[in-house]
Amino acid sequence: DIFQPERSNSKGWDLTHAPTLTAIDHGRAAYQTDRWTCGPIIAGEPSDGSAHEVINPALPGDIVGTTRDATEHDIATALNAASPWQADLMTRAAALNAAADAYEANAEELFALLAREAGKGLPDAVAELREAVDFLRYYAAQATAVTTPRGIWTCISPWNFPLAIFTGQIAAALATGNAVLAKPAEQTPLIAARAVELLHAAGVPKNALQLLPGGGDVGAALTADIRIKGVAFTGSTATALKIRTSMAEHCAPGTPLIAETGGLNAMIVDSTALPEHAVRDIVNGAFRSAGQRCSALRCLYVQEDISQNLLKMLKGAMDELSLGNPWHLSTDVGPVIDAAAHKTIADHIATAKAENRIIHQLNAPAEGHFIAPTVIRVNSIAAMTREIFGPVLHVATFKAHELDMVIAAINATGYGLTFGLHTRIDDRVQTIVEKIEAGNIYVNRDQIGAVVGSQPFGGEGLSGTGPKAGGAHYLPRFSATQAPETRE
Ligand code: SER
Repeated sequence: DIFQPERSNSKGWDLTHAPTLTAIDHGRAAYQTDRWTCGPIIAGEPSDGSAHEVINPALPGDIVGTTRDATEHDIATALNAASPWQADLMTRAAALNAAADAYEANAEELFALLAREAGKGLPDAVAELREAVDFLRYYAAQATAVTTPRGIWTCISPWNFPLAIFTGQIAAALATGNAVLAKPAEQTPLIAARAVELLHAAGVPKNALQLLPGGGDVGAALTADIRIKGVAFTGSTATALKIRTSMAEHCAPGTPLIAETGGLNAMIVDSTALPEHAVRDIVNGAFRSAGQRCSALRCLYVQEDISQNLLKMLKGAMDELSLGNPWHLSTDVGPVIDAAAHKTIADHIATAKAENRIIHQLNAPAEGHFIAPTVIRVNSIAAMTREIFGPVLHVATFKAHELDMVIAAINATGYGLTFGLHTRIDDRVQTIVEKIEAGNIYVNRDQIGAVVGSQPFGGEGLSGTGPKAGGAHYLPRFSATQAPETRE
């Protein structure tokens, strides 16, 4: 009996329509040298700790703004001030819808922030803003069917969707009448602060939504207090496990943790696949957004009979990709988020190089945190012990009779986020989909870019707890069920 609201997703911006593209590009240009500032946004006096700079990952000389991390004092103030949103659900829904409109009205500034703070090109920025707006409207519509708030929710969001996932977690908690303490990723506090300003201006009370920027220590403090009644987290599997431990120690038993974590996402391409389509979807899944999506393709299994041809086409398609500053409309692949990410990925590639396992690699610009899209040979997905969060694709081949073994190896990773399949055998779709343990399965298309409402997103096993974001089961987890009974 879960309510499915009437709704429509954001129209977005059609970048193939030249006047639209020109207008956005012009509008965005006004923000090319702006500097934003952010710090704790709390219902009380923030402390005056020291600020540090936020740097564009593509251009080390571009200071995007300054941020100030929340101190212990700020966290204590915010916890004391936090108060569930008392307004009736129509009022809450109206404010979230107004915030969605405000996001769209401020699109050009948000696109500029997504490019300069998070390294996102315009197509990714447009998709991200659409997703953020869709979350706001979808949960606003769904909230009309949900019951009692739980209390204070901590929402900890990642840098790879610094607007969409940040907004989605908050919108769900607010739609159900909770109070939110939001901790954006350390790398992307500026856009989070802008989003909070827009949400407040749209009518969300200051004590129902507070922002506590900072690193792991701020996140840890926000998951270690008995007053926290739920945690929504998107980030690494390792951090999710730490949060669970902290909650077990400090929060009431049964306090929900909604964690959306990593993946070792595979795609199987069999010998009946249309190679042109498969190659297009492999490039999109592995290299778009510089591979910095939890849904991204990490390990391709291609049937041996077609592997030589497919890899040749893949190399050709990769050679067409342009790497560089995501601000430029011609850029296909932007930077990875920071120096630490760059080092982890570069070390992984260096090991593969030393072992002679590089199938293909592009060239990266010298300045900025760029990783050249790279294809690495592996014998099996079992060789991959962890998620490499960047534009790196691993490729293994299989023989027709090994298909079950391949499926078993994919399931044995313990992750289960996205899975892609290219085949023209209908029966095979059925059998593989039944066997694969993954939250989101895509057939004959790429495996990124889940759409709110129609493709609820989230994994199983090491990839997350569920319920899926943007789906009908998400909001109920943010609310409690009461069973009121009155004696006559
Ligand atoms: N929701 C995103 C996607 O589907 C997660 O990375 O790509």
